[in-house]
Amino acid sequence: MTSFEFPGQYYELMRRDFRNLAAETDFLASLLPDGGRALDLGCGTGTNLRELGARGYCGVGVDQSASFVEYARRMGGEGVEYVHERVEDFESEDRFDLVYCLFMTLNYLPRAELRRVLRKMRGLLLPGGHVVLEFGHLLNFVESYQPYTVAHHRGDGVLVTRLARQSLNPRAANWRNEETLLVREADGRVSMYDNFFDQAVLTGPEVRELLADAGLHVSAEYGGFRKEQVPPHGRGPVVIVATAEGAGAL
Ligand SMILES: C[S@@+](CC[C@H](N)C(=O)[O-])C[C@H]1O[C@@H](n2cnc3c(N)ncnc32)[C@H](O)[C@@H]1O
Repeated sequence: MTSFEFPGQYYELMRRDFRNLAAETDFLASLLPDGGRALDLGCGTGTNLRELGARGYCGVGVDQSASFVEYARRMGGEGVEYVHERVEDFESEDRFDLVYCLFMTLNYLPRAELRRVLRKMRGLLLPGGHVVLEFGHLLNFVESYQPYTVAHHRGDGVLVTRLARQSLNPRAANWRNEETLLVREADGRVSMYDNFFDQAVLTGPEVRELLADAGLHVSAEYGGFRKEQVPPHGRGPVVIVATAEGAGAL
């Protein structure tokens, strides 16, 4: 279950505190031919696609949040378009040089659908194309688990206070986040939004098996978008680049 139905500008503000957008854009661009075409699955507010559009690439973003897709469309961007749909249901005749799923979006998809989704990603690739997955793995969840968190995010005179409650469902190997966002605008207006999401607790071996099943060959694995090494122990993102079987390694 996923919500993410709150104004996109507040998501953008919080995202800045967690992410290095320049590094993400450089990384994605390095996998695209000039003017190439990208598919962003779970594109949120279109942050990555707008940056790629500004560099001359084009693409399609898919997201289940009506608020985020509305924001992404309103923010525009050269050569980018958005589809309001669940990733599991998305179909297209188009083919792409790069299909990616960033910022733990893979974890939000229903576990039972992952095999089908990865096969679909494979089918949407142009010859020589790449898939990039950045997912949260077991240790992300174990090491950052706190039943309650309060966090403040500031920018452009706006303060977003996030009150979150986290719980683990060991039976489903899921992580549930229920949060309230308190927003104070620069002019003092205050608003409040509820948000919630479930994330599957994934492991590296599980994701690699799903990729292999889809006919995707892992060509590189990194601990971040600056191509950091994956740490042998501890938390941190895992970024996997995969290509269709038979294509060369990076
Ligand atoms: C943490 S956000 C990441 C968004 C974006 N990739 C980014 O890097 O900013 C997770 C996104 O996944 C979307 N999402 C979750 N489940 C989805 C699904 N089944 N189909 C499409 N989008 C989904 C949410 O609406 C949300 O925008």
